[in-house]
Amino acid sequence: MTARLTGPGVPRHLPARRLTAVPHLPRHINELARPITDEPEPITHRLASGRYQSPLRYPGAKSILAPLIGRLIVNASVHPALQGIDLLVEPFAGGASTSLRLVGDGTVKRILLADADPLVAAFWQVAAEQTDALIARTCEEHADYIKAGRDHALVRWDYWRHWSPRLGTSERTARFESAVKCLFLNRTTFSGILHGRAGPIGGRAQTSRYDISCRFSPQSITDRIGYVGQLYDTRRLVDVWCMDWRETLNQVISVYKTLVPDHVLAYLDPPYIEKSSKLYNTSFDSGGGYARPLVADLDWQNVLLHERLAAYLYQRMRYRWLLSYDNHPRLLDSCLLYARDRMNPDCDAKASGVRTWRISKRLVQLHYTASALRGRGKVNELLLTTLPPSVVPIDADFRSAH
Ligand SMILES: C[S@@+](CC[C@H](N)C(=O)[O-])C[C@H]1O[C@@H](n2cnc3c(N)ncnc32)[C@H](O)[C@@H]1O
Repeated sequence: MTARLTGPGVPRHLPARRLTAVPHLPRHINELARPITDEPEPITHRLASGRYQSPLRYPGAKSILAPLIGRLIVNASVHPALQGIDLLVEPFAGGASTSLRLVGDGTVKRILLADADPLVAAFWQVAAEQTDALIARTCEEHADYIKAGRDHALVRWDYWRHWSPRLGTSERTARFESAVKCLFLNRTTFSGILHGRAGPIGGRAQTSRYDISCRFSPQSITDRIGYVGQLYDTRRLVDVWCMDWRETLNQVISVYKTLVPDHVLAYLDPPYIEKSSKLYNTSFDSGGGYARPLVADLDWQNVLLHERLAAYLYQRMRYRWLLSYDNHPRLLDSCLLYARDRMNPDCDAKASGVRTWRISKRLVQLHYTASALRGRGKVNELLLTTLPPSVVPIDADFRSAH
């Protein structure tokens, strides 16, 4: 017998199974995580060797850092224990600029992207698997709302800001529309921030020279989406996961059992230790930003989440890792964060294969030409890594962080 729902607004004659809940967005591109089977195919897309490949503008995008990270990986590949990275995992993918670049130029063989923000994950999943449909829809959104003039674009901006999947929508439709929402808001909102408080580029009045359309170039966006599609088709982009960083790191081990831990590298670029809740929908929230309590801005809570990540990396991480942080004195001062120089797994973790790798700490200087978030000029980025210390350089690019 079919259970019936009752209550205000629920017609008494309708069986419960016909009432579909608001769909959850899929956690992998397909129902199950995609296995690694064959050798990936060559990438022929012209963007593979370019400087910018990401269709998303992203607060904190690390495209300036990618060549330096690439250098670290290339150096490490000569080490007998490593000899190349078979899989680069990016659990805080955001705009994924580092992964897209390093797989394109051949520094790593494959990449896996993951993000807890369902909009961001949906975008990458759809760009990978429904590439042509997303390209067509991007052109339509541009022709119908951006090119049609500022008033039309603002109406569409409000529409997407308030849009969420309707009751009964299929999971696939919800994911596709979420991807379009992510892309539209990312290209038309101040600094690309996917957050309730950020307004459209150029403000409501649209009196600035830089108006809502200024970052929406269909040609370059669709070219970049095409690149993501080719990465997926050639099995260079293994999968896109919508999950919290901890689950991503745990699942990589259980899903990709055949990979040697020394040949897997996680590149982690978590939200800033300060102010992240103003930038990201998720702001380091494992509920994907949707279960966030009203007091999520509290500093102690934010720091606690960063401490949990540090504890995991020091005590439980089975494969190599590389972490980048907007430099902050707290990071290297606190034993609960990154003051220690070596991983310290307990006996059980050691028995399950966690090693006691040394941790190299470097500062690199990034030159931002313009950034609404950081201002113009130089910022220090802290890099921590368990790549073998003998291969992590200290030179004009990488200063010791001790
Ligand atoms: C600093 S951004 C990453 C920027 C990226 N490296 C780039 O180049 O564009 C941090 C990302 O982490 C995601 N995030 C926040 N909390 C998370 C969590 N608990 N687990 C996984 N991802 C999370 C945010 O949605 C955001 O996309």
